[in-house]
Amino acid sequence: MVNYKELGLVNTSDLFKKAIEGKYAIPAFNFNNMEQMQAIIAACVETKSPVILQVSSGARKYANQTLLRYMAQGAVEYAKELGMNIPVVLHLDHGDSFELCKSCIETGFSSVMIDGSHLPFEENVALTKQVVDYAHAHGVSVEGELGVLAGVEDEVSHEHHTYTQPEEVVEFVTRTGVDSLAISIGTSHGANKFTPAQCTRDENGTLVPPPLRFDILEEIEKLIPGFPIVLHGSSSVPQEYVATINKYGGALKDSIGIPEDQLRRAAASAVCKINIDSDGRLAMTAAIREVMATKPGEFDPRKYIGPARDELKKLYAHKTVSVLGSAGKA
Ligand code: G3H
Ligand code: 13P
Ligand code: ZN
Repeated sequence: MVNYKELGLVNTSDLFKKAIEGKYAIPAFNFNNMEQMQAIIAACVETKSPVILQVSSGARKYANQTLLRYMAQGAVEYAKELGMNIPVVLHLDHGDSFELCKSCIETGFSSVMIDGSHLPFEENVALTKQVVDYAHAHGVSVEGELGVLAGVEDEVSHEHHTYTQPEEVVEFVTRTGVDSLAISIGTSHGANKFTPAQCTRDENGTLVPPPLRFDILEEIEKLIPGFPIVLHGSSSVPQEYVATINKYGGALKDSIGIPEDQLRRAAASAVCKINIDSDGRLAMTAAIREVMATKPGEFDPRKYIGPARDELKKLYAHKTVSVLGSAGKA
């Protein structure tokens, strides 16, 4: 059993309290490899932002659980070496079973998500409570979820959201004891969050997606004032990355994300954790494709993964400074 405190990590309680009071959100960036981790830490140290390093079960399989645990420990030391001991959380993203959450807690995670959002309410409560009981005995934070995002969380249809029902949230957080709640208000995972048909066009002809359901968020905030809310599926899908990818041989179609002004508004509310994965994937892919296409003689991986890491760092710094407002809060 490795306790996260021994690795220099923190849980989310203090960070979320400050984020709600200060009207900003903590970035939760997914990582699967060393360069992504380096970019996240370098950007957050540079902008003095707390950070949640987020690992999906797929990432854990990809990178190996032991290596990941040492990488997170390395992340804390790397931040210090770069000049600032920023708060770092190691969080399991979309945990789907008690056993997976338990295993992560035993290998040094300071926070876990148990995603029972696809289950009937009573089963979601029971599973979430089981994880909370175990996690809290070890000082680990737990994120639960109510409502189903369109896309990967949605087994019915890609375009179909099951928005969080505000009338369920009080009972859910009281009975489970979760520390934060992920809700569904119109975000979704991946790079194709909306179809062009769902969007309108502004005066420049740019596609504008339908706004998030702030009415649902506000209702939830009234019912559980000051309770930390989490937004998944919050990539903005920068169109310059999509254009670069497609210019250099990619074939991304109808890639539309959540506009940054919507996320800024959410960050100023009780939303205190915002999950971003796809934008990092796009930044890396764009940078790598550009090197591959413009320098066909290059075969040193550092010469294409290095520029990808630089682009990632720029992206993450932009998020903390201009979108989430977490810069300067470490
Ligand atoms: O919400 C899902 C995250 O973007 C992680 O994706 O399961 O492909 O690692 P993944
Ligand atoms: P994106 O696909 O919008 O980056 O969302 C990531 C996420 O929610 C991870 O849990
Ligand atoms: Zn998610």
